[in-house]
Amino acid sequence: MIPNEDINKIRINANIVDIISSYINLEPKGKNFFGICPFHDDHNPSMSVSSEKQIYTCFVCGASGNVFTFVQSYENTTFPDAVNIVAKKIGYNLNYKTSFNKPNKDLLAIVDLANKYYVNNLNSELGKSARKYLSKRQLSDAIIKEFNIGVALNNNLSKVLLEKEYSEKQIINAGIANKGKNLYDIFQNRITFPINNEHGDVIAFSARVYSDETTNKYINSKENLIFKKGNILFNYDKAKNEVNKTKSIIVVEGQFDAIRMYSIGIKNVVATMGTAFTKEHIKLLKKLNVKVVLLMDNDEAGIKSAISSGEELIKNNITTEVIKLSKEKDPDDYIIKNGADKFIEIIKKPISFFEYKLQYLKSDKDLNKSKDLANYINNVIAELNKSDDDILKEITINKLSEEYGVDKEVLTKQLIPKEKKIEPKKIVKKNTPRLNKYDKVSETVLFMMMKDVKYIKNYDRNLGYIPNKEYGQIANDILAFYKINGDFNIADFITYATKNSSYETVLRIINHYDEKNLDYEEFDYYIDLIKKWIKEQQINKLKNEIDNEPDINKQQELNDLLIKLKKESE
Ligand code: GTP
Ligand code: MN
Repeated sequence: MIPNEDINKIRINANIVDIISSYINLEPKGKNFFGICPFHDDHNPSMSVSSEKQIYTCFVCGASGNVFTFVQSYENTTFPDAVNIVAKKIGYNLNYKTSFNKPNKDLLAIVDLANKYYVNNLNSELGKSARKYLSKRQLSDAIIKEFNIGVALNNNLSKVLLEKEYSEKQIINAGIANKGKNLYDIFQNRITFPINNEHGDVIAFSARVYSDETTNKYINSKENLIFKKGNILFNYDKAKNEVNKTKSIIVVEGQFDAIRMYSIGIKNVVATMGTAFTKEHIKLLKKLNVKVVLLMDNDEAGIKSAISSGEELIKNNITTEVIKLSKEKDPDDYIIKNGADKFIEIIKKPISFFEYKLQYLKSDKDLNKSKDLANYINNVIAELNKSDDDILKEITINKLSEEYGVDKEVLTKQLIPKEKKIEPKKIVKKNTPRLNKYDKVSETVLFMMMKDVKYIKNYDRNLGYIPNKEYGQIANDILAFYKINGDFNIADFITYATKNSSYETVLRIINHYDEKNLDYEEFDYYIDLIKKWIKEQQINKLKNEIDNEPDINKQQELNDLLIKLKKESE
């Protein structure tokens, strides 16, 4: 168990806006911050984060909680692990080792050691020819350092790791060694580019040949527990901190392209490392809540990739634009040959994915031939039917009609009217339960108690009990929390309530009643109502007992009690 004292200190020092910002892009709006909710398939920023209350709430799916519950859900981990992660993020020294993450921890430690080892190699005498290669490719020392570029020389790393008392199995599981007769390094005589996860931990390597061009140009770490190639975008950890400024994220194919662009100040760039777009990639990009600009290589594979990635992005309601490279093979090539300024100019002028798609559809057709033209127009209409943009439809139809002399009405008829389109499933907010008047009164009392300790004291003095199991427990917990801490705040109480009372109900109450204009003067009146309710319940219980009491004398006794109770409740 992590001591409560540590948990509270970490919670107080971790600003929820900063921590959540390290996962998703948040924009200030009024008192709160808003972002795309990572807990459902969100299209508009539905998650609000309150720095005043230090809680988050998604008004679509109802996800809500404090900094720890966010990290716990997002990382899909345990509460102690979530506390650990938050502690790490704020630099809090928590001397608590979680058992849960142990295997991952060892793997991360091994990869981290490997990284340091490779970086060290590059600076050694034997790293000379690798250094020469990097300088030939015009990477500065500063960039080499920033990206922790290193070199794997001969078959030494595995031995070093074994000496550090890691087992063969662990080293193999870290994706950097294989076993034949003996353990051997996967990377030999290659320049190493560490691949980071979104938090900036090194999880794998992509390694390039620099002397012998005959073998595979790049090889990557073997996939393992911490590294799935389809789950990561190269440079995402750095790029995600840039998008608030740039409002866009640029996707390229090669890590060399990403590094080159970074080095000329275009830091909002990620690389797919040559793989096709995956659902995980989409998720990562979507979280940033900015438009995506595709900048693929200038070859057939690059065009195919731009088309298929763009389709996926559009399907996920992500605004997508494309930059086409003229002549040069890839961004790195372009920058080296034409200079940074020219490149910066062309990336200022992306075209919409729609426009790009139309150009693509045209590219293999001869529009002077009727058959090709009809085919093209049908394809354009099919594209329009994927879109919700009425203005785009109008403009495109006008253009087609003017350019190719096709009747506007004929074209418009091909458009599928909006109603016929299948709407994506709407997420229904978790149902608020139907509440009777006593429930509402109880919840109002609980809410006021959580707003001001004055009402906790009042409750303690004048009521001390709510005759509903859940509300009673919450009231008890609020009181206990106040007595332990001498104060009350909702963000810390959530941690406490997670273990005891129904924490979802606590959050529902906090979020629901906050929007209402409550009359705090009525607190005493509500307390009286609950008292009356308690009496009513006692009376009903007694009546029931009287009906079932066979002994006449006992029945009389109970009757006297009933009369007394009734008098009291008048
Ligand atoms: P440089 O030649 O160093 O400039 O690399 P590049 O980025 O121009 O490479 P290319 O466009 O050929 O490939 C794009 C990305 O695909 C690279 O950054 C690698 O991540 C990946 N890749 C390229 N070649 C290979 C290969 O042989 N094997 C594997 N696994 N990945 C490769
Ligand atoms: Mn290249």
